[in-house]
Amino acid sequence: MNEQGLAQIPLSGFAAQHLLDVESLSRTDIEAILDRAEFYEKLLTARQPVEKVLEGKIVLTLFFEPSTRTRISFEMAAKRLGADVVNWDFERSSMAGKGESLKDTIRTLDAVQPDALVIRHSEQGAAFLAAEHASLSRAPVINAGDGIRAHPTQALLDALAMRQAKGPLEDLTVAIVGDISHSRVARSNIALLAKMGATIRLIGPRSLMPTSFPGAKVEIYHDLGQGLPGADIVMCLRIQRERMAVGELPEESEYHRRFGMTRAWMDVAGSGALVMHPGPMNRGIEIAEDLPDDPDRSLILEQVRLGVPVRMAVLDLLLGGRGRV
Ligand code: NCD
Repeated sequence: MNEQGLAQIPLSGFAAQHLLDVESLSRTDIEAILDRAEFYEKLLTARQPVEKVLEGKIVLTLFFEPSTRTRISFEMAAKRLGADVVNWDFERSSMAGKGESLKDTIRTLDAVQPDALVIRHSEQGAAFLAAEHASLSRAPVINAGDGIRAHPTQALLDALAMRQAKGPLEDLTVAIVGDISHSRVARSNIALLAKMGATIRLIGPRSLMPTSFPGAKVEIYHDLGQGLPGADIVMCLRIQRERMAVGELPEESEYHRRFGMTRAWMDVAGSGALVMHPGPMNRGIEIAEDLPDDPDRSLILEQVRLGVPVRMAVLDLLLGGRGRV
């Protein structure tokens, strides 16, 4: 039955070797990933067995930055599909203290021949560097977040959460609120939503708003009262202080007063509007204490839940799926 279900999902057009950013995916690729994720999600929800399409494969994860959701859901996803997972540990590596460069670390890990590399790094372009240097194993590289640049699997799981809760993305108005400048989540979401034809609004202080958005049509607001009315989805972002220069950091209570999402602001968006947040959240700053737990308003744990089937879909398509066509 599982086999039949998978066979019904078209794989045509998914030609990518790596998943480095949303920009290099086509609309068809995005739909193929979301459809496959939905297939896996149904199996997981029904607690039905999942075909071990990655049996015998080893997924190597390299997280140079802390992570809860992304790392755990990649590991869960790989194991659900029958792969083994090896977690490279920065603290115990030769990069910590012994001065090995990122490039040499990648070449070394490539030489042990993993079947896939999942990488998160604070530098933009780290995943591209990995794709360039993982030439012995020819392992697909999946970007789990590089600096402020891209976080494609987050945008994909956000897209699935929106699609399931609110219908086709092209019909939606999505307001992204907060520290847009330092957010790879915002960049990847903007790229994905633009490809899928959604209306994109960005709301935040001028100091945290980029001045250009190549390739995407966006509406920019600096006031919640102007940007929220009619939004189907309100996506809140953390103030990413670790990526800011001294002096850039806004004052927290003032920021909450102007841009913190509350139930009252959600009412301004509309009675059916839903709030999202990629996590980690800072309650009382970008989002009110009680809003994340409101089952009528919040998609936040749904985003986390969907992270597993979306990453299963990505791993399957990059490593396993093509074997079945
Ligand atoms: C984000 C990240 O690390 O890019 N979180 C995530 O992956 N779910 C967002 C953040 O750090 O604020």
